[in-house]
Amino acid sequence: MEERLQKLLSAAGVCSRRTAETYLIAGRVTVNGQTAHLGQRADPDRDEILVDGRPLAPRAEAVYILLNKPRGYVSTLSDERGRRTVAELVADCGSRVYPVGRLDLDTEGLLLITNDGDLAHRLLSPKKHVDKVYYAQVDGILNQEDCEAFHCGVTLADGYTCLPAGLELLEGGRAALVTVREGKYHQVKRMLAARGKPVTYLKRLSMGSLRLDDTLAPGEFRLLTAAEEAQLQR
Ligand code: URA
Repeated sequence: MEERLQKLLSAAGVCSRRTAETYLIAGRVTVNGQTAHLGQRADPDRDEILVDGRPLAPRAEAVYILLNKPRGYVSTLSDERGRRTVAELVADCGSRVYPVGRLDLDTEGLLLITNDGDLAHRLLSPKKHVDKVYYAQVDGILNQEDCEAFHCGVTLADGYTCLPAGLELLEGGRAALVTVREGKYHQVKRMLAARGKPVTYLKRLSMGSLRLDDTLAPGEFRLLTAAEEAQLQR
């Protein structure tokens, strides 16, 4: 069956769809000997698809990992500044896997890591609106007005107004559970900073149906259960 090349590359575990687009633009992909273009479709059973002259490997078995990301690790596969990466933490999982979305260097908690480029794409799609829940501690005391502001959509310092979000106060307002549906850069920190209460500690507790359980210490990971996998695919 014909599919877009960026989808085929990510399904074969070569790279993410977005990276595949840069490969296509750079002319690194050929189909039946011709340089492929962005948006082109091909059939892996019929066409010869090469990346940098090498054929696509057969579709890798899907691997889904739930990592409790510790502070001090970047959510990328490599880092040009030599910082520690989440890839090091899951190096012995035996597959070439990517994090689904990012957590900041100093943010802890649930990070899904997979070689299933399609699932990653769907979970990150703004149209999907997957709920993410964070536990945040702040400098200051959060109150009912902050809850209302979150409910209406907080306007960030750059003028962007966020989608409605949840704020549930904890510890007398020094902490809260924050539920967001978007995945903008530094979103939770910027939302709380816009309310004058900067984040001092941030941990992601859940993403969609996936929950971080207390069996995983920071830095530890486990494979998703079959039930978790099935729910994610829905
Ligand atoms: N929002 C943030 O500000 N940082 C994160 O790491 C995740 C969400």
